[in-house]
Amino acid sequence: MFLSSFPTIRLRRLRYEPLVRRLVRDTVLSPDRFILPLFVRFGQGVRKTIPSMPDQFQLSIDELVIEAEQAVSLGLGGILLFGIPETKDSIGSEAMSEIGIIARAVRAVKETVGNKLLVITDLCFCEYTDHGHCGVLSEKSNNRYEVDNDTTLENLVRQSLVHARAGVDMLAPSGMMDGMVRALRGNLDREGFSHLPIMSYAAKYASAFYGPFREAAENCPQFGDRRSYQMDPAAVAGQAVREAQLDLEEGADIIMIKPALAYLDIVRLVRERFEGVPIAAYNVSGEYSMVKAAAEKGWIDEKAIVLESMTAITRAGANIILTYWAKQLAQWLNS
Ligand code: PBG
Repeated sequence: MFLSSFPTIRLRRLRYEPLVRRLVRDTVLSPDRFILPLFVRFGQGVRKTIPSMPDQFQLSIDELVIEAEQAVSLGLGGILLFGIPETKDSIGSEAMSEIGIIARAVRAVKETVGNKLLVITDLCFCEYTDHGHCGVLSEKSNNRYEVDNDTTLENLVRQSLVHARAGVDMLAPSGMMDGMVRALRGNLDREGFSHLPIMSYAAKYASAFYGPFREAAENCPQFGDRRSYQMDPAAVAGQAVREAQLDLEEGADIIMIKPALAYLDIVRLVRERFEGVPIAAYNVSGEYSMVKAAAEKGWIDEKAIVLESMTAITRAGANIILTYWAKQLAQWLNS
């Protein structure tokens, strides 16, 4: 029991000496906890700038391989690949093709880095469909089109097999379809990929923070929005617990919360509810671009802001952080 108080107790004693501060520091950042999202497209020698995301690029496969080698030498936890297809159609066929952009990219990267780098693929259709939604559309009632959950699951399963056969190390389904983890897990197990982990975007909110990503991945919905499948930011917080619980029951190995900074309460809630489950948080494009823009204006100190933000996300309970700063963070932390 702590009966004494000021002046016996002075919390500043723990802050006065840098060595004492270091001793009582709890949150430690490490490059192997960071995953770098990368955008890959067709072509040769392509390194196309993404205006709304300074220092991020759409890369052709040869450039992606260089990036992957850097990720290895910086000791990153992994890379997460998003594909920009050559052609889009109503169901996102290229996502399910053995010669599609992601299948090629995974093979090329794995040939180069082997088991020195964890390669994860995002499983979704929004980059591949001409309407920009995350699955197959069906008409629900007079002219109201919806992403059809169960048909999309069948396609997701096809997409996952293409990635698995190309040699990916982990799958990250991001479409917020009900039952997606169960469908994927069942089929992967039947097809001989029972060892492949699934990192599920379990609690993914319909967020304006994805704005810049729409330019980066060219996946902007051509009509409507994603609110009929992604979560409502104002929904009762426990809905995220239900999402996580279901995904875990369906066989998810890692649970992701997205976005990160505006959802640290959700990270903490899920962390406390599921002891022993690795939790990932996705520090998304809008979170990145806001800092970049303010830093460009000289209004904030980018490095300090980013290190503080990553500390906060980790302290809230995330074991893994997906961030466009992953390489930069490794450089800062290693120097
Ligand atoms: C969907 C997907 C999105 C992001 C990751 N996966 C976009 C969306 O749901 O609209 C956003 C990531 C970011 O903003 O950095 N495939």
